Amino acid sequence: MLSSPQGLQMGGVERELTRARGAAPGFKVAVLGAAGGIGQPLSLLLKMNPLVSTLHLYDVFNTPGVTADLSHTNTSAVVRGYLGKDQLGPALDGMDLVIIPAGVPRKPGMTRDDLFNINAGIVRTLIEGVAKHCPQAIINIISNPVNSTVPIAAEVLKIAGVYDPRRLFGVTTLDVMRANTFVAEVIGVDPKEVNVPVVGGHAGITILPLLSQTSPLFSFNSKEVEYLTNRIQNGGTEVVEAKAGTGSATLSMAYAAAKFGEACLRALQGETGIVECAYVASEVTEFPFFASKVQLGRTGAEEIFPLGPLNSFEREALEKMKGELQGSIEKGVNFVHKPK
Ligand code: NAI
Repeated sequence: MLSSPQGLQMGGVERELTRARGAAPGFKVAVLGAAGGIGQPLSLLLKMNPLVSTLHLYDVFNTPGVTADLSHTNTSAVVRGYLGKDQLGPALDGMDLVIIPAGVPRKPGMTRDDLFNINAGIVRTLIEGVAKHCPQAIINIISNPVNSTVPIAAEVLKIAGVYDPRRLFGVTTLDVMRANTFVAEVIGVDPKEVNVPVVGGHAGITILPLLSQTSPLFSFNSKEVEYLTNRIQNGGTEVVEAKAGTGSATLSMAYAAAKFGEACLRALQGETGIVECAYVASEVTEFPFFASKVQLGRTGAEEIFPLGPLNSFEREALEKMKGELQGSIEKGVNFVHKPK
């Protein structure tokens, strides 16, 4: 374990003083894949978050460097680095929230499903660690293909006897952020004012922005619906192609993951009325996993909201995604049950 100098200086007396001043004790958060393109900026954003008191950075590469670097930022979170599979246990012990961006990203011409063979095994191993060392933690999965990696995580947790579907989330916040940004451009408002529910999954046609439920309400013509749906579904590919072989979305994803992670922490702290879209175990449709609006609470996903009224374009899009989403879910489940 690589303790930060700041961590070492933060002695018992100082901690007691912080408590005596009435400051929130803060949460323990681990990032698995912390040295990567998403992991590094995500860890920086978490280190800046006053809700985070302890930040554990785990990777199979470069965590000493990233930890030393982050530990020089003057925020109170204690940062510790963990390198390689022998340190996975200590990285996870006692964590409240585990965020997982470990794995390989797409290159031009690849689909998210092309990552399956590598990332499925990585997610399985990391979740086995979570099951053993912090089974109560909220889990945020970023590693693609999310449509399959979340079912993989669920099966691993079931086998370990610690599965609580309310605590397992696939992070689809970037789809919502893209939807809000692109819609704001079309209707000419500040993106912060816009909220578009994005449902389904997190790959191509399984990403379904419900433009008919955009807030503020706006009546898009069919050309706008087609343009926006297509751009939101292919936002990831737009970045992969622009990066020309050097990776996929990292900065926007880190921001999205930091936002979603913060929403989970605020809910853990007891704040009410927090609603986010996420890919969760669900009974809202026929699919066992589905992204839709979820109310977050102290125990994780406390309520999953129905999709609400869909227009004919959205109903058709929902129909079109069926084969792909169901296939990705089954692929994840089968991966865990086939002999290693
Ligand atoms: P990256 O390659 O820059 O970083 C991945 C990190 O994972 C590396 O530091 C690597 O050493 C680490 N890693 C590999 N095997 C590991 C293991 N067994 N244990 C712990 N760490 C391990 O990739 P990047 O750009 O950070 O993307 C990470 C993942 O996030 C990819 O699967 C990508 O497709 C996905 N992603 C998901 C999005 C979403 O909206 N959910 C959006 C963008 C990317």
